[in-house]
Amino acid sequence: MFSVSDCKIIDLSKVHNDAGNITVVENNKNIPFEVKRIYYLYDVPMGADRGGHGHYELQQYIIAASGSFTFVLDDGVTRKDFFLNDPSKALYIQPGIWREIKDFSSGSICLVFASSEYRESDYIRDYVEYLNYRNDTPAI
Ligand code: TYD
Repeated sequence: MFSVSDCKIIDLSKVHNDAGNITVVENNKNIPFEVKRIYYLYDVPMGADRGGHGHYELQQYIIAASGSFTFVLDDGVTRKDFFLNDPSKALYIQPGIWREIKDFSSGSICLVFASSEYRESDYIRDYVEYLNYRNDTPAI
């Protein structure tokens, strides 16, 4: 069972020249799982919050492709804010972590690399249920 302290900001580095930057995300090189799905959040209205769920198994890399937003990660004991505003950095979210997403800047794009296809059965959408799951699952 992973905790918030296992979730980190990873520096993806960038290829820079006068005409701009390129950042590369490549399976088995700078991402610790095989990417099975990519999706992105955009056109998030001012003041809207997203997330509010945990995943049993999913691993994710979160990148602020444009603009900024805050991921609040919670393992049932510790809550920590991760402010993302740099497309050359990724937040690595381990399995079993609750997340909320807030403070989207206008025009922001939240790019997500995920370790599996979409499965609703991998979600825990109720916080009390999440806490029960954490309390019932032994630590690793
Ligand atoms: P959800 O993951 O709850 O969004 P967020 O965490 O950003 O608030 O997904 C919102 C809806 O979109 C939900 O009804 C399921 C659907 N969805 C898919 O169909 N496929 C996907 O890959 C994702 C991420 C969501």
